[in-house]
Amino acid sequence: MDITNLILNNDVSAGSIKNFNKLSNSKKVYVETYGCQMNFSDTEIVLSVLSSKGYNETTDINDSDVILLNTCSIRENAENRIYSRLGDLIKYKKKNPELVIGILGCMAERLRNDLLTKKKIVDIIVGPDEYRKVPELIENSIEKGEKGIAVKLSRTETYDDITPLRREGITAWLSIMRGCDKFCSFCVVPYTRGRERSRNIGNIVEESKRLFDEGVRDIWLLGQNVNSYRYQEHDFADLLRSVAIAVPDMRVRYTTSHPYDLSEKLLETMAEHDNICNYIHLPIQSGSDRILKLMNRLYSVKEYMRVMLKAREMMPGIGLSTDIISCFPGETEVEHRMTLDVLKEIEYDSAYTFVYSPRENTKAFDMPDKLDDETKKRRLDEIITLQREISYKINSQLTGKVMKVLVETVSRKSEDEYMARTDCNKSVIIPRTFNAVDNSGRLTEAKVINTGELMNVRITGANSATLFGCPVSAQ
Ligand code: SAH
Ligand code: SF4
Ligand code: F3S
Repeated sequence: MDITNLILNNDVSAGSIKNFNKLSNSKKVYVETYGCQMNFSDTEIVLSVLSSKGYNETTDINDSDVILLNTCSIRENAENRIYSRLGDLIKYKKKNPELVIGILGCMAERLRNDLLTKKKIVDIIVGPDEYRKVPELIENSIEKGEKGIAVKLSRTETYDDITPLRREGITAWLSIMRGCDKFCSFCVVPYTRGRERSRNIGNIVEESKRLFDEGVRDIWLLGQNVNSYRYQEHDFADLLRSVAIAVPDMRVRYTTSHPYDLSEKLLETMAEHDNICNYIHLPIQSGSDRILKLMNRLYSVKEYMRVMLKAREMMPGIGLSTDIISCFPGETEVEHRMTLDVLKEIEYDSAYTFVYSPRENTKAFDMPDKLDDETKKRRLDEIITLQREISYKINSQLTGKVMKVLVETVSRKSEDEYMARTDCNKSVIIPRTFNAVDNSGRLTEAKVINTGELMNVRITGANSATLFGCPVSAQ
């Protein structure tokens, strides 16, 4: 799933920083992360590498010796955001000429030349497979004023031996693989992150256990295409099963799967284990077989539908979401309508929708694109409006129902509320305290709810993005 920044930023900003500052080094690092969950997870790896060299993290940019931007290249506007952010950073560099500014992540690989020649304030550029070198490059920049660049992609690097420096919280990201071999014609990821490689299954299981012991109750197994996970004879379903069994009181989820290799074995594994969440994010991208072919997505709409129907049949109430790219080069009005039809037929809980953004060096870049901006805007609006209606319909039908939720974090909108999540990945806003009723029906003192609790809530209201609820014993 693309970077559903919404969920991610929330998790990443929650809680305090653990285990940092074990060694003393006066250098303070400020990191901003853009892009997908993989990038957020990578930032935790970079922080771990830096921490082992004695660096401290700061959340105050004014107080930093090093500013790192972990960047995303997926669409043009993601890159534009970074360019404009670099413009903002000039003032910090002017104030403190010693300041080291670094670009990490997917733009590092793609735009290294551009960044080094046109963006003079950038001191170091480090691609996703070279994060072990970050401290050395920072030192060289500080001591010798050297511009540092390390953007080689690796066939083997998985950072399997590095324990990410995570924020305290109920939710943790756990990278299980890196890279992508699918080469969808619109996508930069195979170029920015390189070939697929998977982590050792035993280490992933051990890390899950350790996370549980540290208080984590919800893990997301991460990869650009988790269905291609392979370690020796183990596939992704084997990994998921092993984790679910190793930490039976942990919620286990994953993202993202590619429809081409989502196996029935995986669906069976999900259905078998209560602690594997009944939620699948499965990007369809388009409702037209012709467009899917041009995208090199390797499945037809019919095949995709079959997987979705099977998932619903095996796990009634399962949460389903998708990604859509609207206005791929040459998309006709009829093909656009086909996408709308798929949304109507499947009735996803939610969808992340993007207008196609041409990416240099990808196959689709040279495909003729005759769509004007007005058409692009209209088609995107039609998809978003339709999906919003569907999401609202599904969510409002849940009003009055009792659902089990895991209490995750304080709500971003109010200190007095928590954001909790259902097994099918819907967020539910609940109060932080409630008046329970005792056996004789009298209201007891206010009960305090804690993060990490699993509780039943009655849904009291809904909009297209969120549910609102109240603990059942409070009614
Ligand atoms: N690996 C995931 C997707 C990662 S990128 C998968 O295959 O499902 C997240 C989403 O960004 C994609 O699903 C796609 O919908 C969107 N995306 C990728 N490249 C894009 C582009 N060039 N223009 C617009 N959207 C794009
Ligand atoms: Fe990109 Fe396709 Fe790989 Fe997803 S599966 S990261 S869309 S190339
Ligand atoms: Fe993720 Fe963006 Fe890179 S979506 S893999 S950070 S291009």
